[in-house]
Amino acid sequence: MATQVPETEAQLKPMTDAAKRKRILSGIQPSGDLTLGNYLGAIRNWVIQQDECESFHPIVNLHAMSGSFDPEALRRRTLELAAGLLACGIDPEKAVLFVQSQIPEHTELTWILCTQTMYGELGRMIQFKEKRGTASDAKTSAALFFYPVLQGADILIYDADLVPVGEDQRQHIELTRDIGNRFNTTFGETFKLPEADIKTDGARIMGLDDPAKKMSKSAASPANYIALTDEPDVIRKKINRAVTDSGSEIVARQDKPALTNLLTIFSLMTDTPVADLEARYEGAGYGQFKRDLGDAVADHLAPIQARLKELTSERAQLESILHRGTERAREVTVPKMERVREVTGLSL
Ligand code: TYM
Repeated sequence: MATQVPETEAQLKPMTDAAKRKRILSGIQPSGDLTLGNYLGAIRNWVIQQDECESFHPIVNLHAMSGSFDPEALRRRTLELAAGLLACGIDPEKAVLFVQSQIPEHTELTWILCTQTMYGELGRMIQFKEKRGTASDAKTSAALFFYPVLQGADILIYDADLVPVGEDQRQHIELTRDIGNRFNTTFGETFKLPEADIKTDGARIMGLDDPAKKMSKSAASPANYIALTDEPDVIRKKINRAVTDSGSEIVARQDKPALTNLLTIFSLMTDTPVADLEARYEGAGYGQFKRDLGDAVADHLAPIQARLKELTSERAQLESILHRGTERAREVTVPKMERVREVTGLSL
């Protein structure tokens, strides 16, 4: 008699050859609009990699609490981000999409990893220093300080091989390796040490208003970034107003950071090598170049925006995808935490 495959096993089918595939883990914060920087530096790669890797993507709502936050906005943005990731092409049949706070093992491991993390290491984190800005000790939240330990727990608990991220996360992944290595040395081989997977192109998309600063969803001005939800005319306007370099040449060069950034975006949006674009726009003015780039970005984002509109009205479906993601993630995290409790003397 044929045995019936339980539903969860059927859902897990794409992972049956998981042993041979690399496991990737990468998260994203529900802390503002998804930007072209998030898309080109991270999400686009996740969509490509989900076909060949075993992928885990937490929406890191606990990280989004490290600055000031509004509970209702956090709840709403968590679901919006899930819809945004699906609209970009994350396929819940291939990748595990879930909400970080639904997996209590992440926070439990964070505390244990704190015992293997030095105060000085956290104080040296560039993102900590940048986000803290000029705030005094009295005004700097401890959550901002411990943020990288939670990130380390997100990664180590899955024994991830690769962490596909933008350039700004390199230091956090290096710290994760240091913490994991220290844990393994102290308590015995427990965690795989992950590699940062940072692509040559798109890993650092810069602000349209200032090519010396990265494009960021928390930027003070929306002129800094293109949100994936920006209407086509807003996209064209933002690109038209983007800062350029002195001179009139359309080339990617170290002394032309603004043009290099715009050419990188153009190249990734249209799958055209930068050299071909440089040749196409030789002798052309910024006006024509920017008009074409605006169209290219708007055209690339149009199908994503259409899918997003559909998904936003399907809350029950979103919740069910996230619920399934939680179950699949916990198949990894529950046994891993049991092992961690055992080697650290917590299990009696
Ligand atoms: P977050 O939400 O700030 O960014 C999500 C991803 O987008 C990338 N990114 C960019 N890439 C290129 N150019 C840009 N301008 C740009 N802006 C953002 C980021 O590098 C990131 O890959 N700490 C993480 C969240 C996190 C995480 C993790 C990541 C929590 N746990 C575990 C990997 C693994 C963050 O701030 O992401």
